[in-house]
Amino acid sequence: MVNPERFLSTIEFGSVPTLEPGVLVIGGGIAGLAAALAAAEHSDVMLVTKDVFQESNTYYAQGGIAAAMAVGDSPEDHLNDTLVAGAGLCDREAVRVLVEEGVSCCRELIDWDMPFDKVGDEIAFTREGGHGCRRVIHADGDATGKVIVATMLDRVRNHPNIRMLDKHFVIDLLHFEGECYGALMMDSAYGRMLKVEAGATIVATGGLGRIFRETTNPEVATGDGFALCFRAGATLRDMEFVQFHPTTLYLPGAPRFLISEAVRGEGAHLLNLSGERFMKKYTEQGELAPRDVVSQSIFKELNATGTTHVNLDLRHIDDGLIDERFPNIKEICANYGIDIKTEYIPVRPSVHYMMGGVKTDTNGFTGIERLYAVGEVASTGVHGANRLASNSLLEGLVFGKRAGLASANVGADHHKFPPRSIARHTFGKTVPLDIEDVVRSLKALTWRDLGVYRDGPKLQEAEKSIASWERYIIPEQFQARGGFEIQNMITTAKVMVRAALIRTESRGAHQRIDYPDTDPQWEHHAELSVREFME
Ligand code: SIN
Repeated sequence: MVNPERFLSTIEFGSVPTLEPGVLVIGGGIAGLAAALAAAEHSDVMLVTKDVFQESNTYYAQGGIAAAMAVGDSPEDHLNDTLVAGAGLCDREAVRVLVEEGVSCCRELIDWDMPFDKVGDEIAFTREGGHGCRRVIHADGDATGKVIVATMLDRVRNHPNIRMLDKHFVIDLLHFEGECYGALMMDSAYGRMLKVEAGATIVATGGLGRIFRETTNPEVATGDGFALCFRAGATLRDMEFVQFHPTTLYLPGAPRFLISEAVRGEGAHLLNLSGERFMKKYTEQGELAPRDVVSQSIFKELNATGTTHVNLDLRHIDDGLIDERFPNIKEICANYGIDIKTEYIPVRPSVHYMMGGVKTDTNGFTGIERLYAVGEVASTGVHGANRLASNSLLEGLVFGKRAGLASANVGADHHKFPPRSIARHTFGKTVPLDIEDVVRSLKALTWRDLGVYRDGPKLQEAEKSIASWERYIIPEQFQARGGFEIQNMITTAKVMVRAALIRTESRGAHQRIDYPDTDPQWEHHAELSVREFME
């Protein structure tokens, strides 16, 4: 096994410039922005992202934010829908925090001039799968994420206590004996190292879709934060639960562009290639069943009919509603020659969201002193085995703010990293390595063996392949972001495969061909840390 501290030990710390903020926030999506804004009320904050600040899963979010704000709705109803979707694995207390504080966090966004769409003077609500009522608020029709990022970034940029740093890739967290001291990062443009010694560190690095061949996620979603926290000794939980979004554009050569669940919420139908509405064959809830059920039903239909995709039919939806609600989807499809008012959209499921992540409490605390995790990289317990649609932006807002406030207290008391305490190692020879080929192989493996349906023997083979790659794809090979990313992708995939292997049942988004039933004995989380991988 690769020593997690091996790379850190090669850095000559004396020569690396050092910055010392109270709180370091890594990641510029909704959770990172919320954390930075909250922490900055009490501390100086450094907010770092590996790319530019717009590049995050948040920016591409379409549907919206689920919040119990409509007349007749209640946090209790939202809680119940979340628990049902989560298939027995949600942490009830964390969900309660989410649905109750979510309402005030959304009101705060409105106070910050977030222009949610309205009907007359009232906020407009749409419906998505698994929600018992219209509960999802949105902006610019189907560009909610973009508008949220603009609103929050504007506030962050104008905050006197926040310093922003883009294009800085975090290579590793500085950690020693169960305590985090900040991070070692690299300026992607010039390859210079930077050491940030922080009183508290918040990892808000988002998701991991890019580990798979087909995903809605942007290129930055390479699972870095899962691997960073894992190497620092944190526990990863529920990593077998990968959410497939049922409807992503399926055209040869085109990216798997998200076709929002809100499209089905506004009445679109799923048809097989014979033109039949098939969802009711699989579930009473039809197109508006929770996401895991819809994705699994589509795959069953594809297998039954021997086809590669199904079609999404909006033709019966009012043209004005399409123009108003889905301008972005309409335009992207038009770019590929599809008029969504008169033609079907070819779709199939692809990887969208990691339900598990770094185990935290409801303040984002990871159990490693001074280390917090929030947003998609974290496992607060709110999603269980299947995330309810549009609960993820809400989670980022609520728990980002909580972690920001909690870390600001801790961050006031600054600690210096004790580099001399880390043992030095001698290294083997590096070998020529085609990073792109490794990435292609990993994506093929995860798509084949960690897809919607898993099988024990295939997972065992996947585990062996990853272990063999890990022996020669080692951090000292790399001088640039792509290399460090593939290291993180491999580490994260390794944990996902092990988690999928040990859960010997089918539940929510984790479906085992060799264990097709839900096992009441498995109504608990699977937790993995470095210890479980020691040979
Ligand atoms: C969507 O618009 O369908 C995505 C929303 C989500 O992932 O919650």
